[in-house]
Amino acid sequence: MTPNHNDHTNGTQIPIGIRPAGAVARITPYGGSAQTPIHLPHRERVAKLDWNECARPPAPSVLRALGACVTEGHLNWYPDVEATELRNALSDYTGCDPETIRVFGGADAALEYIARTFLETGDQVLWCPPTYDNFRVYVESCGASLQPAPLRSIWEPEPGALLAGVTPQTRLVYLVNPNNPTGTLYSTEQIAALLWTCPDVGFVVDESYFEFSGISVAALTLAHPNLIVVRSFAKAFGLAGLRVGYCISHPDNLEAIDRIRVGKNTSTLAQVAATAALADRAYLDATVAETRLSMKTLAETCEQIGLTTRTTPANFILVRVADPDSFCRFLANRLIFVRNRNHLERLSGFVRITVGNTQTTERLVAAFRAAPSSMLYGQKTAGQRLILPRRSEHPVAPSTSRITPEHLHAIEHRAAHKGEAVA
Ligand SMILES: Cc1ncc(COP(=O)(O)O)c(C=O)c1O
Repeated sequence: MTPNHNDHTNGTQIPIGIRPAGAVARITPYGGSAQTPIHLPHRERVAKLDWNECARPPAPSVLRALGACVTEGHLNWYPDVEATELRNALSDYTGCDPETIRVFGGADAALEYIARTFLETGDQVLWCPPTYDNFRVYVESCGASLQPAPLRSIWEPEPGALLAGVTPQTRLVYLVNPNNPTGTLYSTEQIAALLWTCPDVGFVVDESYFEFSGISVAALTLAHPNLIVVRSFAKAFGLAGLRVGYCISHPDNLEAIDRIRVGKNTSTLAQVAATAALADRAYLDATVAETRLSMKTLAETCEQIGLTTRTTPANFILVRVADPDSFCRFLANRLIFVRNRNHLERLSGFVRITVGNTQTTERLVAAFRAAPSSMLYGQKTAGQRLILPRRSEHPVAPSTSRITPEHLHAIEHRAAHKGEAVA
């Protein structure tokens, strides 16, 4: 903690430590929830459903590769700063050339490098809150600012509204696809239309949950130099603790990032584990299948007891309750940790629950059934339970292979803004 003392001559607070840069001093830090669960004894009894980590441990084949690396992996040497083996494995996995792939210490680190490489003071980044908030911190630390897209709905993709938010100051658009926490999913065609319409704006598409959604724009990176795809090994691959992620983009963009990238940040163990994880597709498929089944079970349970839910094409579900604070405490007392999203704009009453494995889901179902009615439904009696609208929807990206009238309207709007004619 930075100590302060009062300057009695003019009454202002003078920090004793080194004064942070102005942009940093003004930042509201990323609001990750407390890491209570990882400090508890008897970790095996803890259901950690608050940070969207993987419900299953890394594959046995990954643990074996890590064991071999610990004994024979020359951990006294620095890691391969080019991550050659991992990039080759990623090339097979993504279908993209190794020259279009860079590895980082997590998707977060990729996002940080992207912000530092492409943003400067006065730039604007268009985004779609409520969304993953960490990128905001990197953007603001560069002296740039975030503009919310003028979206009518937080649940449906709205490419036209997104375009309408682009101004001459917009340098980047940050699109989490599928979005955390709403699950909103843009189709490949919708993103292609955006890239085509705004070739001078950079699109950072965060596909950290790609393995669950199956929708990706990675194949568009070569044709669209204004696209950077970011991915993570922390979700479906279960390697959150090792910190490894990657981005896919046109080599020119990667060359710019390479000017400041520290290759040593992705450890040897992380590279070995990620390479082994990519080789075990059967384990990955089983993780995705178990997640989908657990999501279905949870949604059905909540619907049966009259709660509003939003399933997502990722590994989390949103459930709306009358008293989210008390409900989260009730679950924590049962060693089940979820994320209260009640304070976020347009998410009043919602808690986000990472979808776990079958065993965890059973515990959660039992907890929902045992929760006091006042927490779930407020002061209503059991007979009035359906006071909240019942809804369980999987946001499906509509397939739009052509530019819609909405797009055209936004394109015209933008051209008018720039004083250009639309051909
Ligand atoms: C959308 C999104 N991007 C990035 C991350 C962080 O990924 P990593 O652990 O690989 O840094 C998360 C984690 O929750 C996320 O939800």
